[in-house]
Amino acid sequence: MDICLQDRTAVVTGASKGIGARIAVDLAAAGAAVVVNYRTDAAGADRVVEAITEAGGRALAVRADVSRSADVTALFEAARDAFGTVGILVNNAAISVFGPIEAITEEDYRRHVDINLWGTLLTMRTLAGQPGLGHASIINVSTAGTTFHPPYGALYVATKAAVNAATLVAAAELGPRGIRVNALLPGYSDTEGTRAMGFVGSPAADQAVSGVPLGRLGTPGDYGPPAVFLASDAARFITGAVVHVSGGRR
Ligand SMILES: NC(=O)c1ccc[n+]([C@@H]2O[C@H](COP(=O)([O-])OP(=O)(O)OC[C@H]3O[C@@H](n4cnc5c(N)ncnc54)[C@H](OP(=O)(O)O)[C@@H]3O)[C@@H](O)[C@H]2O)c1
Repeated sequence: MDICLQDRTAVVTGASKGIGARIAVDLAAAGAAVVVNYRTDAAGADRVVEAITEAGGRALAVRADVSRSADVTALFEAARDAFGTVGILVNNAAISVFGPIEAITEEDYRRHVDINLWGTLLTMRTLAGQPGLGHASIINVSTAGTTFHPPYGALYVATKAAVNAATLVAAAELGPRGIRVNALLPGYSDTEGTRAMGFVGSPAADQAVSGVPLGRLGTPGDYGPPAVFLASDAARFITGAVVHVSGGRR
Protein backbone atom coordinates (compact mmCIF):
# COMPACT_ATOMS: atom_id res chain seq x y z
CA MET A 1 0.00 0.00 0.00
CA ASP A 2 1.44 3.34 -1.08
CA ILE A 3 0.59 6.34 1.04
CA CYS A 4 0.73 9.57 -0.91
CA LEU A 5 0.09 13.03 0.56
CA GLN A 6 1.04 14.89 -2.63
CA ASP A 7 -0.85 18.20 -3.03
CA ARG A 8 -1.77 18.24 0.66
CA THR A 9 -0.80 21.03 3.05
CA ALA A 10 -0.03 20.07 6.64
CA VAL A 11 0.44 22.17 9.76
CA VAL A 12 2.31 20.48 12.60
CA THR A 13 2.32 22.45 15.84
CA GLY A 14 5.33 22.25 18.13
CA ALA A 15 7.49 20.78 15.37
CA SER A 16 10.82 22.37 16.29
CA LYS A 17 11.89 19.22 18.14
CA GLY A 18 10.78 15.84 19.50
CA ILE A 19 7.74 13.99 18.27
CA GLY A 20 6.38 16.94 16.27
CA ALA A 21 9.63 17.35 14.34
CA ARG A 22 9.62 13.70 13.31
CA ILE A 23 5.96 13.77 12.31
CA ALA A 24 6.69 16.84 10.15
CA VAL A 25 9.61 15.07 8.43
CA ASP A 26 7.56 11.91 7.80
CA LEU A 27 4.53 13.84 6.45
CA ALA A 28 6.87 15.66 4.05
CA ALA A 29 8.50 12.38 2.99
CA ALA A 30 5.00 11.16 2.08
CA GLY A 31 4.58 14.22 -0.17
CA ALA A 32 2.82 16.84 1.97
CA ALA A 33 3.97 20.45 2.07
CA VAL A 34 4.55 21.03 5.78
CA VAL A 35 4.40 24.09 7.98
CA VAL A 36 6.77 23.54 10.89
CA ASN A 37 5.32 25.54 13.76
CA TYR A 38 7.43 26.55 16.75
CA ARG A 39 7.14 28.99 19.62
CA THR A 40 10.69 29.76 20.82
CA ASP A 41 13.12 27.41 19.06
CA ALA A 42 13.60 29.03 15.65
CA ALA A 43 16.91 27.20 15.13
CA GLY A 44 15.25 23.83 15.79
CA ALA A 45 12.44 24.62 13.35
CA ASP A 46 14.97 25.74 10.73
CA ARG A 47 16.83 22.44 11.11
CA VAL A 48 13.59 20.51 10.51
CA VAL A 49 12.81 22.62 7.42
CA GLU A 50 16.36 22.07 6.15
CA ALA A 51 16.08 18.28 6.63
CA ILE A 52 12.83 18.28 4.67
CA THR A 53 14.00 20.49 1.82
CA GLU A 54 17.34 18.66 1.51
CA ALA A 55 15.34 15.47 1.01
CA GLY A 56 13.39 17.17 -1.80
CA GLY A 57 10.31 18.11 0.23
CA ARG A 58 8.53 21.39 0.83
CA ALA A 59 8.44 23.07 4.26
CA LEU A 60 8.24 26.42 5.97
CA ALA A 61 8.92 27.38 9.59
CA VAL A 62 6.30 29.66 11.17
CA ARG A 63 6.44 31.03 14.72
CA ALA A 64 3.12 31.00 16.55
CA ASP A 65 2.00 30.48 20.11
CA VAL A 66 -0.91 28.06 19.71
CA SER A 67 -2.66 29.54 22.73
CA ARG A 68 -3.03 32.93 21.00
CA SER A 69 -5.81 33.31 18.54
CA ALA A 70 -4.09 36.01 16.44
CA ASP A 71 -0.99 33.81 16.17
CA VAL A 72 -3.04 30.81 15.03
CA THR A 73 -4.86 32.90 12.43
CA ALA A 74 -1.50 34.13 11.12
CA LEU A 75 -0.11 30.57 11.15
CA PHE A 76 -2.89 29.31 8.88
CA GLU A 77 -2.64 32.39 6.64
CA ALA A 78 1.09 31.76 6.20
CA ALA A 79 0.39 28.10 5.41
CA ARG A 80 -2.31 28.95 2.87
CA ASP A 81 -0.18 31.67 1.22
CA ALA A 82 2.78 29.31 0.85
CA PHE A 83 1.10 26.01 0.02
CA GLY A 84 -2.71 26.30 -0.16
CA THR A 85 -5.63 25.29 2.07
CA VAL A 86 -4.57 23.31 5.12
CA GLY A 87 -6.00 19.78 4.95
CA ILE A 88 -3.83 18.08 7.57
CA LEU A 89 -3.44 19.39 11.10
CA VAL A 90 -1.30 17.71 13.75
CA ASN A 91 -1.88 19.23 17.17
CA ASN A 92 1.35 18.25 18.86
CA ALA A 93 2.41 21.39 20.80
CA ALA A 94 2.00 20.93 24.53
CA ILE A 95 3.61 21.55 27.87
CA SER A 96 3.82 19.17 30.81
CA VAL A 97 4.79 19.91 34.38
CA PHE A 98 4.78 16.92 36.71
CA GLY A 99 4.59 17.23 40.49
CA PRO A 100 2.45 16.50 43.52
CA ILE A 101 -1.10 17.77 43.52
CA GLU A 102 -0.30 20.07 46.48
CA ALA A 103 2.27 21.88 44.31
CA ILE A 104 -0.03 22.76 41.40
CA THR A 105 -0.24 26.53 40.97
CA GLU A 106 -2.91 28.60 39.31
CA GLU A 107 -0.31 29.75 36.80
CA ASP A 108 0.52 26.11 35.92
CA TYR A 109 -3.20 25.47 35.51
CA ARG A 110 -3.71 28.43 33.15
CA ARG A 111 -0.66 27.56 31.01
CA HIS A 112 -1.66 23.91 30.64
CA VAL A 113 -5.25 24.69 29.77
CA ASP A 114 -4.27 27.56 27.45
CA ILE A 115 -1.66 25.61 25.48
CA ASN A 116 -2.79 21.98 25.64
CA LEU A 117 -6.55 22.42 25.40
CA TRP A 118 -7.31 25.90 24.09
CA GLY A 119 -4.43 25.62 21.61
CA THR A 120 -5.99 22.42 20.23
CA LEU A 121 -9.46 23.97 20.03
CA LEU A 122 -8.11 27.14 18.38
CA THR A 123 -6.30 25.28 15.61
CA MET A 124 -9.26 22.94 15.00
CA ARG A 125 -11.53 25.99 14.83
CA THR A 126 -9.23 27.68 12.36
CA LEU A 127 -8.85 24.62 10.13
CA ALA A 128 -12.60 24.02 10.03
CA GLY A 129 -13.29 27.70 9.25
CA GLN A 130 -11.17 27.79 6.09
CA PRO A 131 -13.24 28.72 3.05
CA GLY A 132 -13.47 26.00 0.42
CA LEU A 133 -12.07 23.28 2.69
CA GLY A 134 -12.65 19.80 1.28
CA HIS A 135 -11.84 16.62 3.16
CA ALA A 136 -9.31 16.99 5.96
CA SER A 137 -7.61 15.08 8.75
CA ILE A 138 -6.88 16.33 12.25
CA ILE A 139 -4.58 14.36 14.55
CA ASN A 140 -4.52 15.43 18.18
CA VAL A 141 -1.45 14.21 20.03
CA SER A 142 -2.60 13.28 23.52
CA THR A 143 -0.99 10.83 25.95
CA ALA A 144 -1.47 7.18 26.92
CA GLY A 145 -1.38 8.57 30.46
CA THR A 146 -5.05 9.43 29.96
CA THR A 147 -5.78 5.72 30.33
CA PHE A 148 -3.07 4.62 32.81
CA HIS A 149 -3.27 7.69 35.07
CA PRO A 150 0.33 8.26 36.26
CA PRO A 151 0.78 9.85 39.70
CA TYR A 152 2.14 13.45 39.64
CA GLY A 153 0.52 14.16 36.29
CA ALA A 154 -2.95 15.34 37.37
CA LEU A 155 -2.89 18.69 35.60
CA TYR A 156 -1.18 17.57 32.39
CA VAL A 157 -3.21 14.36 32.07
CA ALA A 158 -6.46 16.23 32.78
CA THR A 159 -5.81 18.61 29.88
CA LYS A 160 -5.01 15.68 27.59
CA ALA A 161 -8.15 13.81 28.69
CA ALA A 162 -10.04 16.95 27.67
CA VAL A 163 -8.23 16.79 24.30
CA ASN A 164 -9.47 13.18 23.90
CA ALA A 165 -13.03 14.33 24.62
CA ALA A 166 -12.76 17.27 22.22
CA THR A 167 -11.45 14.85 19.58
CA LEU A 168 -14.53 12.64 19.89
CA VAL A 169 -16.92 15.59 19.79
CA ALA A 170 -15.14 17.16 16.81
CA ALA A 171 -15.17 13.82 14.98
CA ALA A 172 -18.95 13.58 15.37
CA GLU A 173 -19.50 17.23 14.48
CA LEU A 174 -17.12 17.54 11.53
CA GLY A 175 -17.51 14.03 10.06
CA PRO A 176 -20.44 15.04 7.83
CA ARG A 177 -18.12 17.63 6.23
CA GLY A 178 -15.45 15.01 5.49
CA ILE A 179 -13.16 16.18 8.28
CA ARG A 180 -11.74 13.25 10.25
CA VAL A 181 -10.47 13.80 13.78
CA ASN A 182 -8.41 11.24 15.67
CA ALA A 183 -6.22 11.21 18.76
CA LEU A 184 -2.77 9.62 18.88
CA LEU A 185 -1.66 8.62 22.37
CA PRO A 186 2.13 8.31 22.83
CA GLY A 187 3.63 6.43 25.72
CA TYR A 188 6.66 7.52 27.78
CA SER A 189 9.23 8.62 25.22
CA ASP A 190 12.78 9.82 24.81
CA THR A 191 12.51 13.38 23.47
CA GLU A 192 14.19 16.74 24.02
CA GLY A 193 11.32 17.55 26.36
CA THR A 194 11.66 14.47 28.59
CA ARG A 195 15.47 14.78 28.56
CA ALA A 196 15.20 18.41 29.70
CA MET A 197 13.00 17.36 32.61
CA GLY A 198 15.58 14.71 33.68
CA PHE A 199 13.26 11.77 32.97
CA VAL A 200 15.36 9.84 30.44
CA GLY A 201 17.91 7.68 32.28
CA SER A 202 16.25 8.23 35.67
CA PRO A 203 14.87 5.55 38.04
CA ALA A 204 11.40 6.85 37.12
CA ALA A 205 12.07 5.98 33.48
CA ASP A 206 13.21 2.45 34.45
CA GLN A 207 10.04 2.02 36.45
CA ALA A 208 7.93 3.36 33.57
CA VAL A 209 9.55 0.95 31.09
CA SER A 210 8.86 -2.00 33.39
CA GLY A 211 5.16 -1.44 32.75
CA VAL A 212 5.50 -1.33 28.96
CA PRO A 213 4.80 -4.70 27.26
CA LEU A 214 7.22 -3.89 24.42
CA GLY A 215 9.84 -3.05 27.04
CA ARG A 216 11.23 0.34 26.04
CA LEU A 217 10.60 4.07 25.86
CA GLY A 218 9.10 5.39 22.65
CA THR A 219 11.15 7.45 20.23
CA PRO A 220 9.96 10.21 17.86
CA GLY A 221 10.38 7.73 14.99
CA ASP A 222 7.65 5.55 16.49
CA TYR A 223 5.04 8.26 15.94
CA GLY A 224 5.65 9.51 12.39
CA PRO A 225 4.29 6.45 10.53
CA PRO A 226 1.01 6.21 12.50
CA ALA A 227 0.49 9.96 12.08
CA VAL A 228 1.11 9.71 8.32
CA PHE A 229 -1.36 6.82 8.14
CA LEU A 230 -4.07 8.73 10.04
CA ALA A 231 -3.48 11.78 7.81
CA SER A 232 -3.84 9.75 4.63
CA ASP A 233 -6.72 8.34 2.62
CA ALA A 234 -5.66 4.89 3.82
CA ALA A 235 -7.46 5.92 7.03
CA ARG A 236 -10.45 7.38 5.16
CA PHE A 237 -13.03 5.47 7.25
CA ILE A 238 -11.33 6.14 10.60
CA THR A 239 -12.53 9.02 12.72
CA GLY A 240 -13.09 9.47 16.44
CA ALA A 241 -10.40 6.89 17.15
CA VAL A 242 -8.21 7.17 20.21
CA VAL A 243 -5.10 5.32 19.10
CA HIS A 244 -2.53 4.13 21.66
CA VAL A 245 1.00 4.18 20.25
CA SER A 246 2.59 3.28 23.54
CA GLY A 247 4.24 -0.13 23.31
CA GLY A 248 1.12 -1.67 24.79
CA ARG A 249 1.00 0.51 27.94
CA ARG A 250 -2.53 1.69 28.54
N1 LIG B 1 7.65 12.69 25.32
C1 LIG B 1 6.75 11.91 25.95
O1 LIG B 1 7.12 11.06 26.78
C2 LIG B 1 5.29 12.07 25.65
C3 LIG B 1 4.40 11.12 26.18
C4 LIG B 1 3.05 11.25 25.91
C5 LIG B 1 2.60 12.30 25.16
N2 LIG B 1 3.48 13.21 24.64
C6 LIG B 1 2.95 14.32 23.86
O2 LIG B 1 3.64 14.36 22.63
C7 LIG B 1 3.76 15.73 22.19
C8 LIG B 1 5.22 16.06 21.93
O3 LIG B 1 5.97 15.77 23.07
P1 LIG B 1 7.58 15.96 23.05
O4 LIG B 1 8.10 15.26 24.23
O5 LIG B 1 8.09 15.65 21.69
O6 LIG B 1 7.67 17.55 23.31
P2 LIG B 1 8.95 18.50 23.47
O7 LIG B 1 10.20 17.81 23.09
O8 LIG B 1 8.86 19.10 24.84
O9 LIG B 1 8.63 19.65 22.41
C9 LIG B 1 7.49 20.44 22.60
C10 LIG B 1 7.19 21.22 21.36
O10 LIG B 1 6.00 21.99 21.60
C11 LIG B 1 6.25 23.34 21.27
N3 LIG B 1 5.40 24.23 22.06
C12 LIG B 1 5.22 24.29 23.38
N4 LIG B 1 4.35 25.27 23.70
C13 LIG B 1 3.96 25.83 22.52
C14 LIG B 1 3.07 26.86 22.16
N5 LIG B 1 2.40 27.56 23.11
N6 LIG B 1 2.90 27.17 20.86
C15 LIG B 1 3.57 26.49 19.90
N7 LIG B 1 4.43 25.50 20.18
C16 LIG B 1 4.63 25.17 21.47
C17 LIG B 1 7.73 23.54 21.51
O11 LIG B 1 8.16 24.66 20.74
P3 LIG B 1 9.49 25.54 21.07
O12 LIG B 1 10.51 24.59 21.62
O13 LIG B 1 9.83 26.11 19.74
O14 LIG B 1 9.09 26.59 22.04
C18 LIG B 1 8.28 22.20 21.00
O15 LIG B 1 8.43 22.24 19.60
C19 LIG B 1 3.11 16.57 23.27
O16 LIG B 1 1.76 16.81 22.93
C20 LIG B 1 3.19 15.69 24.49
O17 LIG B 1 2.19 16.00 25.45
C21 LIG B 1 4.82 13.12 24.89
